[in-house]
Amino acid sequence: MSLLFRKKPLADLKAQSRQTSLARSLSAFDLVLLGIGCVVGTGIFVITGTVAATGAGPALILSFVLAGLACALAAFCYAEFSSSIPISGSVYTYSYVTLGECLAFLIGWDLMLEYVIALAAVATGWSSYFQSLLAGFGLHLPEALTAAPGSKAGAVFNLPAVIIILVITAIVSRGVKESTRFNNVIVLMKIAIILLFIIVGFGYVKPENWSPFMPFGMKGVIASAATVFFAYLGFDAVSNASEEVKNPQKSMPIGIIGALAICTILYITVSLVLTGMLPYTKLNVGDPVSFALQFVGQNKIAGIISVGAIIGITTVMLALLYAQVRLTFAMSRDGLLPRMFSKVHPRFKTPFQNTWVTGIVAAGIAGFIDLGTLAHLVNMGTLAAFTVIAIAVIVLRKKHPEITSSFRVPFVPFVPIISACLCLYLACSLPGVTWLSFVIWIAAGIVVYMVYSRKHSLLNK
Ligand code: ALA
Repeated sequence: MSLLFRKKPLADLKAQSRQTSLARSLSAFDLVLLGIGCVVGTGIFVITGTVAATGAGPALILSFVLAGLACALAAFCYAEFSSSIPISGSVYTYSYVTLGECLAFLIGWDLMLEYVIALAAVATGWSSYFQSLLAGFGLHLPEALTAAPGSKAGAVFNLPAVIIILVITAIVSRGVKESTRFNNVIVLMKIAIILLFIIVGFGYVKPENWSPFMPFGMKGVIASAATVFFAYLGFDAVSNASEEVKNPQKSMPIGIIGALAICTILYITVSLVLTGMLPYTKLNVGDPVSFALQFVGQNKIAGIISVGAIIGITTVMLALLYAQVRLTFAMSRDGLLPRMFSKVHPRFKTPFQNTWVTGIVAAGIAGFIDLGTLAHLVNMGTLAAFTVIAIAVIVLRKKHPEITSSFRVPFVPFVPIISACLCLYLACSLPGVTWLSFVIWIAAGIVVYMVYSRKHSLLNK
């Protein structure tokens, strides 16, 4: 039993991070942009439309506020951890130090589900905008290759989503790391196209489109919050970069909370303008943001937004693939996953095999499963991770007073408890099939831990 709860000593982690000694070059501003780069993607560009049309109506804005609140509380917890344990690895590492090996493994296992499926989901959104852009030039793919089966009539396979994932995998596996400056330029462009949408769209808002405001009732608003939660995911990726930050204790909280705050303001404004421009019933399309502009006759701006969305969503995929590879790399280095995942390619100096295994699995999923199903599963995995991290903050304060941090969650244990309860509440409005898949995945994780990881853990030495 005590084996299950053995913890990784913080000193080991610090030694490990000294060995890798990455250059500390990122500022708080870079972190905010890094966060926005990972967050703003398929959620706001695609899922908003479907949710407005089928789940929330114009009350979409309330769903965004509720999901944003759940993320803000979780962001506080992340900020405390990343300023007290400024070592990369995200929740998996934090839990290894505070909650013990078994839970840390399960959290890592859970996050694997989050990142791989999110990669597939985001690629599905990319595919919609790509096809909308092609259509602008009068080009159309054969119906069978446009989407996953069941998402629209005649669809069998989402070819563009599969291709883009394989391209991204080829790039990442060769170690072409995007530079901070490149990332900053793309992120500023992404913010610019969203502002362009808000400014142009605002002129076409007709308040009568906001009525009825809550056509699906409060239940619809809450279920939609559990879905649009997807749009906020990725801010935790900031905590992965902590070994490359100049002054992590100060900059990490600014990076995490700053990125989330800016995204929340953008999302709320976009949902207000989007639902004001046209009747919400018309928004059930794959490219709602540019569709709304076409609807009011702004075809050129719609084209610009499609191109911007395609480039902007690509950076989210890069970030997710990195996050997944870093996570499985760390777990494998600790002995909890097979060595193959931390094997470094002799020439490219990257976890080559790991990256390709991840990419191929994500591509397979993106080809055959629709966006709604994928987004729900990602949200389930993330809500579980957020719940655990909230509990971990309480454990950190009680059991590890020696670990100091420059950022502290206010009113512990109340804020973490509220955070955990809100995440569980949102998770409860996800569909039964999502819960079933999640339980099966976690059960598989327990088996892997018992049969493999426990025996191969480096802590055995
Ligand atoms: N938040 C990310 C997106 O919406 C995952 O694409």
